[in-house]
Amino acid sequence: MNTSKTKDKYQIAIVPGDGIGKEVMEATLFVLDGLDVDFDYVYGDAGDECLEKTGTALPDETLDIIRNADACLFGAAGETAADVIVKIRQEMKMFANLRPVKSYPNTNSLFENIDFMIVRENTEGMYIADEEQYTDEGAIARRIITRQAEERIIDYAFKYAINNSKTKVTAVHKANVLKKSDGLFREIFYEVASDYPDIATEEFYVDATAMYLITQPESFEVIVTTNLFGDILSDEGAGLVGGLGLIPSANIGENAALFEPVHGSAPDIAGQGIANPIAMMLSAVMMLRYIGENENADKLDAAILKVLNDANILTCDLGGSATTMELANAVKNNL
Ligand code: NAI
Ligand code: MG
Repeated sequence: MNTSKTKDKYQIAIVPGDGIGKEVMEATLFVLDGLDVDFDYVYGDAGDECLEKTGTALPDETLDIIRNADACLFGAAGETAADVIVKIRQEMKMFANLRPVKSYPNTNSLFENIDFMIVRENTEGMYIADEEQYTDEGAIARRIITRQAEERIIDYAFKYAINNSKTKVTAVHKANVLKKSDGLFREIFYEVASDYPDIATEEFYVDATAMYLITQPESFEVIVTTNLFGDILSDEGAGLVGGLGLIPSANIGENAALFEPVHGSAPDIAGQGIANPIAMMLSAVMMLRYIGENENADKLDAAILKVLNDANILTCDLGGSATTMELANAVKNNL
């Protein structure tokens, strides 16, 4: 991640998608407008409605828009999510999936002092989905661990720790059973760690980690792990801090980055203007940090935190009755 402002004006790809994706995107752009930073938005179409309109859920033109932008903000897709977001991650080689797990006041968070980042490898492991034909006995799936991809993600985790004043990186694996593949992951972890003598290291088996996330979540700072384990643990993390409406994420590649809330298009509440836009706004905070706009990121983060602290204007998922745009207005007024 960059640590200082990289440009005077940034080209940002905006892909609102379907359902509440469009609503939380509108609210977020409204708030970004209150910051002192110059954006050039280029809109891209994707998702269920796009499929109906154009015959494809992810037009090549949208991929080009994302490719040519400094960063992309993505709302949510509906039933076509796999064809849209998974394909974008693959096409753009977005190898790192970042899922922060942070507790906020006046939410359903189970703990008060949680603040860690899960850095998940996004391109290989179990999710190459290389399943052979059914065999006589059942079925077989292959799991791929390469030195190149694991070095890259582990190095990313240590750099993230340094750039974000974290003191420790925890490797999560199952090397006692998967001796070759996770044995290699573990070996690479310590090789990379030797380049970062100021960052402490720790390793746990994934099953133990699933428990420690409940018994001592405050002790984690940065977790780095392979694809499937990262997917599972990050949903556990979401459960810890209570509620999809609050959880942002980033997908980072060498030349492209996409920021999106973890939630989907929420057809059950879409069109009512009541979706919580905070997950999308926190995704924008991550984007601001990525492009090096750290002061603006801090400012937006603080404005969101103040709304949660005040607890006067909250959407219904947080027990309030405010609309999406009322909450956005409150955040903008706090900037
Ligand atoms: P979902 O995340 O859309 O909704 C799950 C539940 O959480 C719903 O009750 C919804 O109302 C609530 N919720 C989600 N975000 C909220 C917000 N910001 N404010 C208030 N409440 C919120 O997941 P679901 O229902 O499993 O999937 C709905 C559609 O979204 C499906 O078509 C699915 O394929 C798609 N999807 C897309 C994703 C993406 O684009 N990255 C990710 C997950 C699902
Ligand atoms: Mg998942």
